[in-house]
Amino acid sequence: MRTQVAIIGAGPSGLLLGQLLHKAGIDNIILERQTGDYVLGRIRAGILEQTTVDLLHEAGVGHRVDAEGIVHHAIELVFEGKRHPIHVHDLTGGKVVTAYGQTELTRDLMEAREAAGLPTVYEAANVTLHDFDSQSPRVRYEKDGQTHEIACDFIAGCDGFHGVSRETVKDKVTEYEKVYPFGWLGVLADVPPVSPHAIVYGNSARGFSLCSMRSLTRSRYYVQVPLDDKVEAWSDERFWDELRRRVDPDLAARIVTGPTIEKSIAPLRSFVAEPLRFGRLFLAGDAGHIVPPTGAKGLNLAASDVKFLSTALIEFYKDKIEAGIDTYSDRVLKRIWKAERFSWWMTSLMHRFPDSGEIGQRLQEAELDYLVNSVAASTTLAENYVGLPFDFGE
Ligand code: APR
Ligand code: PHB
Repeated sequence: MRTQVAIIGAGPSGLLLGQLLHKAGIDNIILERQTGDYVLGRIRAGILEQTTVDLLHEAGVGHRVDAEGIVHHAIELVFEGKRHPIHVHDLTGGKVVTAYGQTELTRDLMEAREAAGLPTVYEAANVTLHDFDSQSPRVRYEKDGQTHEIACDFIAGCDGFHGVSRETVKDKVTEYEKVYPFGWLGVLADVPPVSPHAIVYGNSARGFSLCSMRSLTRSRYYVQVPLDDKVEAWSDERFWDELRRRVDPDLAARIVTGPTIEKSIAPLRSFVAEPLRFGRLFLAGDAGHIVPPTGAKGLNLAASDVKFLSTALIEFYKDKIEAGIDTYSDRVLKRIWKAERFSWWMTSLMHRFPDSGEIGQRLQEAELDYLVNSVAASTTLAENYVGLPFDFGE
């Protein structure tokens, strides 16, 4: 088998890359370890920057996000029992974010890929990467007990944090990592969101909370929990009680509760691998970096990596220009570190840390007070929240 670009992983990064390359006439094969249903079963974030929505249009899959995504002009911060809006639209000269689940986005991309007849090998086992230091890389995998080999020009490692791509080059990678001393307990429930027009981020003495949504009939809520907490310890009733105690009384009174359809605990991590290019192998998305979810940058960062990588590959094939490939790692890392900084900052601002002490607590309160009362500080939050432009600082 031969293809131009072998893509490892059918998450949002791999699927979006595959679609953008296909639109430019570049053929690609995706190898995915899991089944398609398994990939769609993972509940992840759901806030898209405008540049991500634009990219979905470029990939030919923008219609459903346009029809069903919920546009937000503001976010809200709750602390000391009061809610404070941050009008991101007004503060950024008209930029917005769109609530649209990663599951839906992944489904749109999978359907478009299938409709175009593009090859995806699900349940591809023991994927290995070879000769990416040469002009003729190869990828091997096993399927139904048989070993297969794909010859290609490039390999895109879009296989997430636990994938094989970064593992293959681990001797050449510097890793930067911070693990936070708490997790997020998240639930999904088919109830109308308490705040359909703004995501609400809460800081309370009992810990962080987040009120989000997937649609006008499906809500997504989170509370900060200790790292060793167990989902089994959280009945639906306990979750709803805890959420109510972490927001302001008005919001608490309006939360519509119901049976949860998903409940899970996720750890929070900041992680960056450097570099992100190794000859003809590139890392994109969670394969190269992880942000804590406060600020909703993970999916958007994956999309911006893919924008840079697809542009570089298209230039290579169409115009024989290698500059995009050569500068991929440096350019995406500049953007990645800014999103890492923002996600770390927002995590630090909104959570209760076990070891911050009284002074840390008072400093956090002062920062929140400053943030909602200073146009300059609110603007800093807003411009990062809606996403920095792709060419920021260039
Ligand atoms: N071989 C083939 N596929 C693999 C392998 C492997 N060895 N290892 C992992 N994969 C697959 C996973 O099963 C998964 O479907 O790679 C895919 C990676 O997808 P994601 O983890 O969703 O990563 P990415 O596409 O970069 O999307 C980033 O996901 O975690 C969120 O916040 C993050 O929203 C962001 C998005
Ligand atoms: C979500 O809807 O899952 C969500 C929203 C905002 C975040 C993180 C997650 O910052």
